[in-house]
Formats: sequence, structure tokens, C-alpha cells
Amino acid sequence: MAERRAFSTADAAAAARLGFAAEAAPDALDRDAAADALARLSAEIGRHDRAYYENDAPELSDADYDALRRLNAAIEAAHPDLIRQDSPSARIGAAPSEKFAKVRHKVAMLSLGNVFDEEDLRDFVDSVRRFLSLGADAAPLAFTAEPKIDGLSLALRYEDRRLVQAATRGDGAEGEVVTANARTIDGLPERLPASAPALIEIRGEVYMSHGDFAALNARQEAAGQKTFANPRNAAAGSLRQLDPNITAARPLAFFAYAWGEAPDMPADTQAGVLSAFAEWGLPVNPLTERCVGLEAMLAHYAKIGAERPTLPYDIDGVVYKVDDLALQERLGFRTRTPRWATAHKFPAERAQTVLEAIDIQVGRTGSLTPVARLRPVTVGGVVVSNATLHNEDYIRGYGSDGAVVRADEAGGAKDLRPGDTVTLQRAGDVIPQIVDVDLSLRPADAEPFVFPDRCPECGSPALREEGEAVRRCTGGLICPAQVAERLKHFVSRGAFDIEGLGAKQIEAFFTDGWIREPADIFTLEARHGPGRLAQVQNREGYGARSAQKLFEAITERRRIPLDRLIYGLGIRHVGESSARLLARTYGDWPTFERAMAAAASEIAAAEDAWESARQTALQSAQDSAQDSAQDSAQDSAQDGPAEKADEPALTLVEPQPDTPPAKAASAKLRYDKIEGEAWRGLLDIDGVGAVMARAVVAFF
Ligand code: IVH
Repeated sequence: MAERRAFSTADAAAAARLGFAAEAAPDALDRDAAADALARLSAEIGRHDRAYYENDAPELSDADYDALRRLNAAIEAAHPDLIRQDSPSARIGAAPSEKFAKVRHKVAMLSLGNVFDEEDLRDFVDSVRRFLSLGADAAPLAFTAEPKIDGLSLALRYEDRRLVQAATRGDGAEGEVVTANARTIDGLPERLPASAPALIEIRGEVYMSHGDFAALNARQEAAGQKTFANPRNAAAGSLRQLDPNITAARPLAFFAYAWGEAPDMPADTQAGVLSAFAEWGLPVNPLTERCVGLEAMLAHYAKIGAERPTLPYDIDGVVYKVDDLALQERLGFRTRTPRWATAHKFPAERAQTVLEAIDIQVGRTGSLTPVARLRPVTVGGVVVSNATLHNEDYIRGYGSDGAVVRADEAGGAKDLRPGDTVTLQRAGDVIPQIVDVDLSLRPADAEPFVFPDRCPECGSPALREEGEAVRRCTGGLICPAQVAERLKHFVSRGAFDIEGLGAKQIEAFFTDGWIREPADIFTLEARHGPGRLAQVQNREGYGARSAQKLFEAITERRRIPLDRLIYGLGIRHVGESSARLLARTYGDWPTFERAMAAAASEIAAAEDAWESARQTALQSAQDSAQDSAQDSAQDSAQDGPAEKADEPALTLVEPQPDTPPAKAASAKLRYDKIEGEAWRGLLDIDGVGAVMARAVVAFF
């Protein structure tokens, strides 16, 4: 549970990096800013939840995601009256997606609390004993200890010993029915033997083995389809396929470890139930053991940890459960987690390697992202050769607000230089992080990295706005990298989602000049199609059939829902959920376009009015400063002839922090206060803050 820990300086740095720079001091926010921040955080965290749970394509590392949740919790703690109905702190996982039938779980599918070390575990065991009023002299408690499988949970309902329904966890209360897909899981019995009860819901984890994961990604890559970041995402994506034939072609496996509705239990201990599951033919993890007392639990944790590198599937910890089911019943549940179980997480996996170079990637919105090119190294079973370096402050070791970003917090500034020996960490994370640099191994000739102030792709100036961690290329549409990235975004999953036209194909078409802007996609067939079909066909990766299919897929997308179109435009700060909000509000493209054009002129008028008012204020402030300077110059001239009369005035008008000219010059236009029907209409949408609204209007 990310929110349990306090919001730290490392979180603040992460938040700043993720577009919440102004909010990174949650206690200092006024009400309006806090409300605005909570709205944006709800939308942003919701988007990442969907990326993770529904699309199986997380964009954030677990640590960054947790930082956003902690920021949300910290702002909520400071402004409890502003907590939103849709607050992320009240959600687990994502709501079930629209495409599968839903089912309400008879018994909620909950999550587990975590412990990270021996002391935490001791606290957990003590709290269980206290809850059960067991004194210090009472016998040690028995727990089962089993690996925590890194997959997704699945509930299997057996009626009259036949598998009748399989459901995912969903949001814990309601899941998706994936029965046909579950039937393709290796080793899952369709029927239970006569010794099993007439009704039981068996729960466990669906996962994909390392070997199957690598083979699947190789096949996906060869077919020009998206590859998966890790086995868990591959398993989730495969189980949640609408076409069970696709699931069948993706080898999934299962371990049973729990149950839901079960009026007729086969045993009265956790270990006994697991043995019964195994007897009925369900796969049960062989590393499960009954442990009596803390020492035995720790010993089994160590044993599983030692076997982890050679296991053919991912695990991320050990789950302990009170063995006696009557005691489990007495202990019961907190809101989201049982009192009778906890997960003991493994520490992050680390490895040392050499930072060979730092490359700069230019993103869709012009952001310059430094990428570490590493000497390939295996971290926890995965070969890593790249890692994100986030932004220039990260390379320098400090965040924009002075907080140390990397793990070497106590050590102070350690800039990263090509040639450095660095420590990589993968904490069940999607993206490995560089967490340390060993200065004793730095080559004598290692030069500090100079972050470019020009775009490496188009040469335009790259600027960093005040308060932002990111430097951006100002080239806009003249920057080929930005144009290509926008095109990739335009065809991405949440936008036009054109089958057979993924990032790789866009890159190739763009390089050859066949597609330079979105409209070109829709004229591709006319330009290179019938009669000239051969042109597309002859391209690498396209046969006659796939070229034809590509044209069909493009035609199919000539009409798409408005929210996909808005999302596809790639406007800064507008993710899928914001696009849906905008689409719902404006209904159709002409209405949307008209409203945004109107808002744009309202903003322009307000900016003009404000700028001239500012100039006037500045002028009069300068005039009065000059007057008083002249006065004092004259005063001092009367004292003696030492100074030239015009010099002090010039020095004085240089902005000094508290003088009227400086105040006038640094005053900021409050966009959230600008009047105007179209602009107010946009700002009044719940979930649209001033930052996003400005980005949308700027686009028009
Ligand atoms: S027991 C009421 N046992 O971990 C608790 N969960 O962080 C029921 N998981 O949602 C869960 N291995 O998806 C349990 N051996 C194991 C597990 C396990 C993996 C997953 C499961 C759960 C999540 C909680």
C-alpha cells in the first residue's frame, strides 16, 4: 500500500518529474491549487491504473506510481474536505473493462499487506498474537509460507465439480468473466473428482513462465505486434483476450492458493486445504511449507529467496497465512487486507554495470529524455542494456527543488558520466533504475555530461520552462522526431489503433516520406494502393495480403469516436480519460473545435489586456523608482560632488526582489480567473484544471 508511508523528498522529486512540480510541496498548496491537484492526480493515477490493469502496458515504474499516490494522500491529509468521490485512495486496481461480462464476487478479492524485513515480520506476528489475546507464554503460532507469484489472480467456480466460471479480480468487488480463456490454461482441471465438494470457488494466480514469455515476445516481434514488458503483463494481456483462440496460443499456467465461496471446506487448516486442492488435480506451488514460529518463517523465506533465481517464473516475495482456519476467521479483515496474512517482499534486485553513453530521445511533445546506454547486464533474470535517466537534474544528481533524486541521498551530488560504473535496480519494476554510481571506479578522463540546449534531431533551441524538470525542443512541427512520435501516438492503442500500422511501421513510412502527417495515412491507399499495391507490398514485412489488410484497417478507422480522435491529437496533459471528458462535454468535433477556437481568442484577449496592464504598471513603477533615485541622487549630490547624477538611477531600476517594478514584472496572469464563456466552459469540466485547459487551447 503506497499511501502508508509519508511523502518524502524523493517522492517530491518524482512528482516534479511527472508533471506535478508545483504540487510537490503538498502542505503549501492553497485550497484552489489543492483541489486542482487532486483532480489532476485522480485523472492521472486512473490513467496509469488502466495502463497497468486493463492495457497491461504500464508507463510508470512502481516507485513513480507510488510517489503519485503518496502525493495524492498527502494533499488529501492537508485538505480532508477536498477528498474526491473518485479519489484514487479509495480504489484498488482498475474497474473491469467494458468488453467482458462482469460478475460480482460473492466474497471480495482482497489484497495483502506487506512487510519488508525481519522487524516488520515480527510486528506482524506480534499483532496477530495480540489480536488473538495470546500471551508471551502461549505456544508459537503456525503459518503457511508460500511464494508470492507475480501474475494475476483468478477465481474458478466449480459447481457439481465442473468448472462453470472463471473471473479476474477486477476492482476486488467485481471482476470480468474470462471462462473460455481460463479453460485454455495448462493443467487447470475441467472437472474435480468425487472427493471434492459440490460447490467451491478456488482462487489462485495465473502466470507465464520465463521461457514461454521470451518465446511469445519473439513471435510478437516477428509479427510486428506489441511486445510485453514482463511475464505478468503478458499473462494479463493473454488472459484478457476477447478471442479465446489467441489465449490458447499463449501458454498460461496457474497455482491455487486460496478460495472464495466454499460452504463445505475440505480441511480446517490452510495447509490441509492446499493438500486437498493438490489431490483434486489443481496445481499447488511445491515450495509451500507449514512453519511454526518466526524463526521457521524466516528460514523458509531465505530458502525461497535462494531458489528464486532458478525458478522458471517470477515471484516477488513470500506470503504467510495463519494456518488454523478458525483463527483466520477470528482475525478477519481490515478494509482491503486480511489480518491473518501478509506478504514478505524480496528486496530489489541489483547489478553493477558500465554506463557507456548517454543518448537523448526526443518525445512527442518535444521533451528531451536522456537514456542510459549500458553494457548489457542481467538483473534478476532480465538482460538490461538501457535505462531512463529521466531529465538533466537526475544526471546531475539533484531535482529541480534541490532534492536528491537518486538513492545516494546521503552522499550528495554525484553526477553521472559516461564511463561510470553504476548500480541498476529492478524492484519488480517495469523500468530499471540507476540508483548509484561508484566514484572510486570513475575513469580519470570521464567528462561531465553536458545536457544539450539544442534539439539533437532538428537543432532548434531546447528550453526549460521555470518550475519544469523537462527541457523541450521548440521545433514543433519542423522537428522530425516530434512529428514521428506524434504519428506513432496517433495510431496508438487508445487513439486510432490501426491494425498493422504500429510504431515500427510508422517509423519506416515516415523515414521514406510516405507518411508525414496523420492525413497521409488516409491517402496512403490512393497514393500507393490499387494498381500500385505492389509498392506497399514490396516493403519489408508486407505481403499482398497484409498490404490489403492494412488498407482495410485504415478504411475502418475513417470514423472513430471523438474521444479517440482527441486523444490521438497528442495534446500535452490530455490522456485517455481527459479525452473522454472532453468528448463527453462537447459531443462532436465541430462543436469541440469551435469552442476551443473561441476559448483561444478569449485567452489571447486576456493575455493582451494583461500584458498592457503589466507594461503600464511596470512603467509607472519604474518612473517612481527613477524619481526617488533621482531624488536620492540629488540628495547625495548636495552632500558632495562624488557621484555622477545619472548612474545611481540606472542601478536602482534593476529589479530587486521587493521593489514595485520587480513585483510588476514578475506578477503572473491567473488563467483560472480569466472570464469568457468558452474558457469557463472548459474549466468547469470536473477533472480539467487550468494547466490542461491551457494546453488544449494552445493546441488550437
Ligand atoms: S493470498 C486475501 N497467496 O498477491 C488474500 N496471494 O498482493 C488473498 N498472490 O491479489 C491472496 N501469490 O494476486 C495469496 N500465494 C499467494 C499469492 C498471492 C500471489 C497475489 C494475489 C493477490 C496479491 C496481493
